[in-house]
Amino acid sequence: MSKKEGRYLNSDTSNPGSHHKKWTRSSFSSCARTGQEHDRRNRKSKQQLQVQHNVEFITMWLLLVLLLGLIFLYRRYRYGLILENLTDKYVFITGCDSGFGNLLAKQLDKLGMKVLAACLTDNGAKMLKKETSTRLQTIILDVTNSHSVSSAAKWVNDVVSNKGLWGLVNNAGVANPIAQSEWLTKEDYLKILNVNLLGLIDVTLKMLPMIRRAQGRVVNVASIAGRLTFNGGGYCISKYGVETFSDSLR
Ligand SMILES: NC(=O)c1ccc[n+]([C@@H]2O[C@H](COP(=O)([O-])OP(=O)(O)OC[C@H]3O[C@@H](n4cnc5c(N)ncnc54)[C@H](OP(=O)(O)O)[C@@H]3O)[C@@H](O)[C@H]2O)c1
Repeated sequence: MSKKEGRYLNSDTSNPGSHHKKWTRSSFSSCARTGQEHDRRNRKSKQQLQVQHNVEFITMWLLLVLLLGLIFLYRRYRYGLILENLTDKYVFITGCDSGFGNLLAKQLDKLGMKVLAACLTDNGAKMLKKETSTRLQTIILDVTNSHSVSSAAKWVNDVVSNKGLWGLVNNAGVANPIAQSEWLTKEDYLKILNVNLLGLIDVTLKMLPMIRRAQGRVVNVASIAGRLTFNGGGYCISKYGVETFSDSLR
C-alpha cells in the first residue's frame, strides 16, 4: 500500500481529493464507544469536582468553628485574668515621692484599691495625700535603714491584719553615681546597692509573711540594665541582683 493510499484508508478512496470520511459500521461503533468513554470521563471528573468542592466546604467550616472556639477560649482566659474585689486589696509601694511609684499610687487609688504608700520624705507624703483619696495612707520609709523597714512592716501588718498584703511593689531606687568604674569608690557602689538591692531584699523579707497570708504578689521594679551592662557604677549591678533575687523567690 502506497503512503498516499494509507492516508485515505477511511475516506472516499475513489476520490482522493475529497476529505469526507466513508462511515463504516465499525467506525460508527468505535465513535459511539469513544463518546460513551468521553461521557463517563466527564461524569467522573464532575463527581471528583463535586467531592473536592464538598471537602473544601467542610474544611472551611471546620476552620471557622476552630477559630471561633479559639477566640472563645482566649476570651474566657482573658476574663479569668480580670481581678475581682479590687477594693478589698492592699498594695504597699516604696518610693512614692516621685516618678513611677507616685504615678502607680495615684492610679491604684483611682481604681479603688487600698494603697499604702511609702515615701522617703514628709513633703512627698503630704503632696501625695493632697492628690489622692482618703483610702490612701502614707508612711515615711528609708529602705536603707533596717529600723525604718521594720517599723514600716509592723505598721503594714497592723493595717492589713488578717487580710494580708495582696501586693508589694519594690519601686524605690537611685541611679547615681554613674561613671567609669575607675573613677568610683566602694562607697559609690554601696550607696546604690543599699537602696536598689539590699533595701529591696530587706523590705521583701519583712513583708513576706503578710504576702503569704493574702496569697499576694511581689513586684520588683528592675530595669533593662539588669540584662545589659551600659555603664560603670552600682546601678547595673544592683538591677542584675534584683533579677536574680526575683528568680530566687519564684
Ligand atoms: N526612669 C526610668 O527610665 C527607669 C528605667 C528602668 C527602671 N527604673 C526603675 O524604676 C524605679 C523608679 O524609678 P523613677 O524613674 O520613678 O525614679 P525616681 O523618680 O527617682 O523615683 C525613685 C523614688 O525612690 C525614692 N527613694 C530614693 N531613695 C530611697 C530610699 N533610700 N528609701 C526609700 N525611697 C527612696 C525617691 O524619693 P525622692 O524622690 O525623695 O528622692 C523616689 O520617690 C527605680 O527602681 C528605677 O531604678 C526607672
